[in-house]
Amino acid sequence: MSLVSVSDYEHKAIDKLPRYALDYYRSGSDSQTTLELNKTAFQRLRIRPRHLRDVSQRSTHTTVFGYEFNVPIGIAPTAMHRMAHDDGEIASAKAAEKFGTVFILSTLSTTSIEEVARQAPDVHKWYQLYISKDRELTKSMVRRAETCNYKAIVLTVDAPIFGIRRADVQNKFQLPKHLKLENFAEKGIVNSDGGSGINEYVKKQFDASITWNDVKWLVGFSKLPVILKGILTKEDALLAVETGCKGIIVSNHGARQLDTVAASIEALPEISKAVGDKLVVMMDGGITQGTDVFKAIALGARMVFLGRPILWGLTVDGQNGVEDVLKIVCNEFDTTLALAGTPTVGDISKEYVLHEIEFSK
Ligand code: FNR
Repeated sequence: MSLVSVSDYEHKAIDKLPRYALDYYRSGSDSQTTLELNKTAFQRLRIRPRHLRDVSQRSTHTTVFGYEFNVPIGIAPTAMHRMAHDDGEIASAKAAEKFGTVFILSTLSTTSIEEVARQAPDVHKWYQLYISKDRELTKSMVRRAETCNYKAIVLTVDAPIFGIRRADVQNKFQLPKHLKLENFAEKGIVNSDGGSGINEYVKKQFDASITWNDVKWLVGFSKLPVILKGILTKEDALLAVETGCKGIIVSNHGARQLDTVAASIEALPEISKAVGDKLVVMMDGGITQGTDVFKAIALGARMVFLGRPILWGLTVDGQNGVEDVLKIVCNEFDTTLALAGTPTVGDISKEYVLHEIEFSK
C-alpha cells in the first residue's frame, strides 16, 4: 500500500527500526505529557477559511534572513541520522536541497560538519550548537560551520542537561559501535553508569552553567547570525532580541526536555506578539500535516521545522523517503492555502485561526 501521510511513514518506520533506535527517536521525557500536547494543541485550533477568492495561482515561497525558500517547512536538527539509514544526514540534507529549504545539522550528528558540506554543497544549511565545557572547542565548531558555508548558528538553549527519557534508561541506550558522533574527538556513546548513554555523554561534554552572557559571547565572535532554539516565553524571546540574536525557534525540543511545558504552538502567540518584527520567529514541535504548518504561520511563525517525520521518512527509504515526507506535507500545505482562501504565505494571518474555547463563548 502506498504511504500517503506522515502517520503512514511513522507506522512503517515502527516496523523497521530496532527497538533501541525507535525508542530513542520517538520518546518524550517523563510521562510524555507534552509529547501528547504537541499534537492535541494543533487539534484545538480551528481554521476559519475564506471563500470565493481566486486561488488558482498559489505560492508557498517564504523569505528568511534575506534568503528565499520554496517552502516554509525545513528540517529540524535531530541527532544520529545514521541509526535510521546508512546515508544518514547526507540523505536528509540532499532532500532539503531538492525542496529548496533549510537543513539544520545537529551537533550530535553521525556525519561531520565537513562531510555534509562536501556531499551536499548546495543545500542551505544551518548548524545547531551546544556549548561545550571547553569554550575553545565550541569556538572551533562555529569556525568549522563558517568555513563550510553554513548560514546560521542555531544555539539550543533548552538542554543544559538532557531530560529523562524513560525508554532510553530502560534500554541503556548507546550508539551502535559502527556509528560515531563525527563532530567530536570523543566520538562514541557508551553508558558506564547503567543509564542512558546519551545523557551521560551530554553531562560530560556540555556546559550546564551557560547563561545569557554566553549567548552574548557567541553573538560577539560568530560571523553567522545566531538563532536561539528552545524559547517558550516572551521574557526569553525579548532577552534574545536584547542579546543580538537574529531569530528564535519556539520549541520544546520535541517534548524531550522539561515535561509538562506548553506545546510549542501554545507558546507561539505570546512570543510573536511580544517581539513583533524585532527578530525572525520560527517554531517546531508536533507538526505532521499541512494544516499544522498553516496554523503556526497564522500565529506568527515565519518558518517551521520537522523533527521526527523526517526520521520516519529516512528510516523507510533514505533520501527518497525524506523527499516523500516533505512532498506530502508541502502538498497538504499548498492544498490548505487553496482551501483557506490564502493563495500566498503572506496572506495568512491570525484571523484565520481560532482556539476551540473561543467558539463556546
Ligand atoms: C531532537 N531534537 C534535537 N534538537 C537539537 O537542538 N539538537 C539535537 O541534537 C536534537 N536531537 C533530537 C533527536 C530526536 C530523535 C528528536 C525527536 C528530536 C529536537 C528537534 O530539533 C525538534 O525540536 C523536535 O524534533 C521537533 O518536534 P517533532 O517534529 O519531532 O514533533
